[in-house]
Amino acid sequence: MITRQWWKESVVYQIYPRSFMDSNGDGIGDLQGIIQKLNYLKDLGVDVLWICPIYDSPNTDNGYDIRNYRAILNEFGTMHDFDELLVQAHQKGIRIIMDLVVNHTSDEHEWFVKSRMKEKNKYRDYYIWRDGKQGGPPNNWGSVFSGSAWKYDESVGQYYLHLFAEKQPDLNWENKEVRKEIYDMLTFWLDKGIDGFRMDVINYISKDQRFPDGVTSASQKYASGDPYTCNGPRIHEYIREMNDKVLCNYNIVTVGETPDVSPQEAINYVGEDRNELNMLFQFEHVGLGMDENGKWNDNPIPFQEFKSIMEKWQVELDGKGWNSLFLSNHDQPRQVSRFGNDGKYREQSAKLLATLLHTMQGTPFIYQGEEIGMTNVKFDSIDQYKDIETLNIYREFVDRNPMDKEKIMRFIYAKGRDNARTPMQWSADKKAGFTSGTPWIQVNPNYMEINVEKSLSDPNSILNYYKALIKLRHEYPTVVYGRYVPLLQDSNSVFCYLRCLEEQTLFVILNFSENSVTVESPPEVLCVPCKRILSNLQDKQNEYILERINLSPYEADIYILL
Ligand code: GLC
Ligand code: CA
Repeated sequence: MITRQWWKESVVYQIYPRSFMDSNGDGIGDLQGIIQKLNYLKDLGVDVLWICPIYDSPNTDNGYDIRNYRAILNEFGTMHDFDELLVQAHQKGIRIIMDLVVNHTSDEHEWFVKSRMKEKNKYRDYYIWRDGKQGGPPNNWGSVFSGSAWKYDESVGQYYLHLFAEKQPDLNWENKEVRKEIYDMLTFWLDKGIDGFRMDVINYISKDQRFPDGVTSASQKYASGDPYTCNGPRIHEYIREMNDKVLCNYNIVTVGETPDVSPQEAINYVGEDRNELNMLFQFEHVGLGMDENGKWNDNPIPFQEFKSIMEKWQVELDGKGWNSLFLSNHDQPRQVSRFGNDGKYREQSAKLLATLLHTMQGTPFIYQGEEIGMTNVKFDSIDQYKDIETLNIYREFVDRNPMDKEKIMRFIYAKGRDNARTPMQWSADKKAGFTSGTPWIQVNPNYMEINVEKSLSDPNSILNYYKALIKLRHEYPTVVYGRYVPLLQDSNSVFCYLRCLEEQTLFVILNFSENSVTVESPPEVLCVPCKRILSNLQDKQNEYILERINLSPYEADIYILL
């Protein structure tokens, strides 16, 4: 039995503050900028904002490297601005969840500064230090951002672990005092009245203490540490402790970012009786198409595999744990470019993808700009890119083979994280209305065509379609709680399902192709009178008897059975 909860009935909107809205002309989005746009968000209808890290940080990884958990980054404003944002959002009935990054800190965090001091003190054990092996690092693990996951430190005479950048040393969760410090910090934010956390790579906090070598293929220098760092030996103990000591005392939502989990493992984190997390982000669908270069490729999305992954997560979590629904975020390419068609069918396919996300079981997450169909960007030169992951992989490719330059640029166009980080396109004004100054990263040149102002004034815009979808969720409990029943599973272009709750049944049909398609009605809806309650096509009548269904390119329809 699934319990009814506000966070299941909500739509979450993710803000990447650096790129959302700049209020003071320094080219960097900020908290006052978010405050200025609260009415826009209210009008869109979203219930919760997830704000990417706004803590004090040297910004090696745009805030995912935290120097001080209890302070706001100057560029974003002050704690006073934050308090104001929270009050104003709450007044509008919008909740706020913060990003929680506790797998690692910045190397400039005072704990690490003390940890690496020659004179040994209690902070040494706050991080993961090990002796080298045969003149090299303690093992062969690679960092997510290229190179070894270990960095030698002269004054300590040992290596520290950093699964991400060198400037992001991993915290040692084995140490009870570290855990206590983190729980105190959670309490500090929760007592301010925030409504929950999105927990960054939270399933990496427990490491196999043997730190064994991983398996490498012939072409690889470094191995993935995942088998020993992801879903590690004490992970559930830590998360349950965090829940017991802090989370359970508040009416909040928690979303774990958990790469590399199966539905079965996911249920261990979000099972209704587990007392750990409320929901999680799994990455199986966005991880499609990986090859020997990992995510760095421009392989197309194989539709049938995509569909069966989405369906698997729907069916396997049903009644046991709660899904989150997303196709993009600040680490992923723009969804219309990757899963839809950002050329001729941009509007149609953006609406189709939205229909999918907003009518499956789970809580939908909208990433800023998605609601106006923002697309990937192709900067001419690598110098225009800012993301550490992108810059490191470029160097790695080009060092290996200077001829690879063109190839890696192609992959960056397809997968680079800066695709999602170009400034929000508010209007056709200079710099897309994002800033009066020079933006920290260039604006996507298509802002004249794709922007909020234009979308607001067009009744058929993607934006207005999102509003309709969000409204639907608030009006039909079936959209939230209905059982998911897959239909037409063999179709290689149509995604189709029912959502059933008590007496009510919704029927969703989506044509994921650039061709018109005709399908025979599945027996579940054949000759049942039904009414179409939303469609991304305007010129259709409303009441139907479904026998054969003709679908235009990227058509999306939602029917209610009468
Ligand atoms: C998560 C974040 C990503 C960050 C990484 C390290 O995957 O979403 O942006 O780089 O963790 O904190
Ligand atoms: Ca600013």
